[in-house]
Amino acid sequence: MKKLLIGMLALAMANIAAAQKFEGLAPTPPMGWNSWNTFQTAINEKMIMEMADVLVSSGMKDAGYNYLVLDDGWMTMERDSLGNLVPDPKKFPHGLKAVVDYVHAKGLKFGMYNCAGTLTCAKYPGTRGYEYQDARNYAAWDIDYLKYDWCNTHGINAKEAYTTMSNALRKAGRPMIFSICEWGVNKPWEWGAPVGQLWRTTEDIYQVFDSVHSHGTWDALSVMRIADLQDSLRRYAGPDHWNDPDMLEVGNGMTYAEDKTHFSLWAMMAAPLMAGNDIRKMTKETKEILTNKDIIAIDQDPLGIQGFKYSDKDSLQIWFKPLQHGDWAVCFLNRSSHDAAVSFNWKQTPVVDNVFHHTLNTNIQYTLYNVWTGKNEGTTKKPFSATIKPHDVVMFRLKQ
Ligand code: GLA
Repeated sequence: MKKLLIGMLALAMANIAAAQKFEGLAPTPPMGWNSWNTFQTAINEKMIMEMADVLVSSGMKDAGYNYLVLDDGWMTMERDSLGNLVPDPKKFPHGLKAVVDYVHAKGLKFGMYNCAGTLTCAKYPGTRGYEYQDARNYAAWDIDYLKYDWCNTHGINAKEAYTTMSNALRKAGRPMIFSICEWGVNKPWEWGAPVGQLWRTTEDIYQVFDSVHSHGTWDALSVMRIADLQDSLRRYAGPDHWNDPDMLEVGNGMTYAEDKTHFSLWAMMAAPLMAGNDIRKMTKETKEILTNKDIIAIDQDPLGIQGFKYSDKDSLQIWFKPLQHGDWAVCFLNRSSHDAAVSFNWKQTPVVDNVFHHTLNTNIQYTLYNVWTGKNEGTTKKPFSATIKPHDVVMFRLKQ
């Protein structure tokens, strides 16, 4: 009897500790727009409503960008006397719910931000100690997505902190995507799948192609430095549990080729695609990159396999990604600052995905569909060769 009671107690405790996220919310990597990369805390209701308008009018919503996520800076510096978070009345004079309703009426979903620590990264009130209360408020505001950061956490256990918030969201009852944003510090890929739908793998991105910018206590990473860190993590990703190499910097100051390469790589990595530019003012080129349906189809492929770096020699990289119905995506990338010649013999070079067990079939003649030009450019019968401009890519969908 005593043993049975101890057993039941252990089971009950295990149930408390285990997270049970809402299943099925992110069968493919989440897509949307987030306020942080361009605006930081300078956000307000007028601007957010304009972004919702443009997500629809630009075609981005139709291309798949359906989450509008309000990042840090949306609240007042203090909770109210009952401990509730208060949307900043100067930034949101009609309250947050009015903005959420507006965004929903556009057919979009609404995301918000908070932090597992006592303060957010921008020093607004964090959620620590208020998990269930905050989750109830988000549910009451009809929120669909929570990005949950990792500043000011004073040595708490990451898995426990994220599990607590995941459970609080579950208890609040409204299905919300839970975006784990602890920058890969405590290996979230090892424990994040039952807890949330995506987890950041690195520190913050910034709008540079290939360098690191030190902020003293942390480093901002360029596009290529982030991509360098993803390969070993691909085994952990899949439908409903994605590696998140951070939001997009497309349209934020890199060259056209660099923006294309950034977007191509994020698609090859089955990354969440969160635009981070001012979409009200984007150029035609930026819009074309962000809404390229062939690249988005590679990112959103139902198999949900994160692609891999097949080779990396003299700054020339080749990435492959298995796709549904036996198709593949391939991306030839020139990381250097001079033109580079590439050649690849499809028939003689075995391409094997050892983690997810796919092999490029050398007996099949695939059509080479160039996803940046939208044209068929031969087949895999003949070796492929081209000259690639600095920081640029050539990317194909290999169609059966
Ligand atoms: C951290 C996150 C960023 C952003 C800011 C907000 O740096 O990694 O994505 O949310 O906090 O303060």
